[in-house]
Amino acid sequence: MTTTREIPFARPWITDQDRDAVMEVLRGNILTHGPQNKAFEQEFAGFVRGDASCAAVSSCMAALHLAYLELGIGPGDEVLVPAQTHVATAHAVEVVGATPVFVDCELQTGNMDLDQLESLITPQTRAIGLVHFVGIPCAMDAIMEIAQAHGLKVIEDCALAVGSRYKGTHVGMFGDVGCFSFYPVKHITTGDGGMLISRHQSLTERVIKTRGFGVDRTFSERQIPGMYDVPSLGFNYRMSDINAALGRVQLGRIGEILDIRKRNFAQLKALLADIDNVVVLDSPSSEFVNSHYCLSVILRNKLAERRNAIVAELRELGIGTSIYYPQPVPRMTYYRKKYGYDEARYPNATAISDQGIALPIGPHLTSDDIDAVGTTFRETCLRG
Ligand SMILES: Cc1ncc(COP(=O)(O)O)c(C=O)c1O
Repeated sequence: MTTTREIPFARPWITDQDRDAVMEVLRGNILTHGPQNKAFEQEFAGFVRGDASCAAVSSCMAALHLAYLELGIGPGDEVLVPAQTHVATAHAVEVVGATPVFVDCELQTGNMDLDQLESLITPQTRAIGLVHFVGIPCAMDAIMEIAQAHGLKVIEDCALAVGSRYKGTHVGMFGDVGCFSFYPVKHITTGDGGMLISRHQSLTERVIKTRGFGVDRTFSERQIPGMYDVPSLGFNYRMSDINAALGRVQLGRIGEILDIRKRNFAQLKALLADIDNVVVLDSPSSEFVNSHYCLSVILRNKLAERRNAIVAELRELGIGTSIYYPQPVPRMTYYRKKYGYDEARYPNATAISDQGIALPIGPHLTSDDIDAVGTTFRETCLRG
């Protein structure tokens, strides 16, 4: 069976309620620094865990940058990051002047290989910058044990992990900081945007200053309008109230979004179960609750050689796919030129980049669409 459908890999889910919330902000006079921002932070804290402190920012990259700055990580420091991730994970380390040290991943989950991670710790190592790969949680007990044993900070890149939990706790609440993305095709969107969360209230308070130029007081705290001081450096990494209003309505649908993704993932995984040379990345046990950002497969043996042809055939047949992520970060030109590149160090990250395909499971897919994705994928693989 072939499909005549057009099924994109991802599509933002925008409803009339989302549009109304944005228009409501535009009908008023407060477009940024306003009540929507505060409310979004409080509601996000309620979603992850009531005692989280949250700062809404302009992107996940901004959140990561602020995290490293506020943790005092900089020149001379090394940070362990996965080789298999979005470049933002490593860029955030680079832009504070520290050195990313890349760690290979496991093939079953795409998450960092903890034996290799431990072997790469040096006297210069200051932090672990982990990623919950496509929403599959890392083994946080083991990571926190390593971090404590070596006195390391932990920064959790949760860009694709809204809804991911490890042993019942939402990711982002284990380490010192958690950073989320609200880019259009993520679980929830604010257009562009991000959230920094932390168990340390004082760190979040500093971030809230740094995201707004380092200014020392909010509008409501100013006795004379326009009067403030700037005791520290900062950026403009704020999230506007327009974006925050959209985020609030989206967050209100997160339960439904996660349910649909979970159902779609299970249906598609079952459809792929007995195709030779196709490995599905997933959580190792029910203690690791996946947020089901996408369904990532790794092609093996003969199928691996046909990866790009399979992607092209699927596109012809109306099935959108993606690759998470297109290259191990240390192989990307900037990092390769700066640090050199030894492919042998990252066999699993390389397999995910060069032999992987991410299949769609977002809320824009019906059960019939999932059938079409599964059937078309199977036929394409078997055509050989
Ligand atoms: C793991 C990871 N970290 C960070 C980012 C960057 O997110 P943002 O676009 O919000 O900066 C992404 C984007 O996809 C990502 O996948």
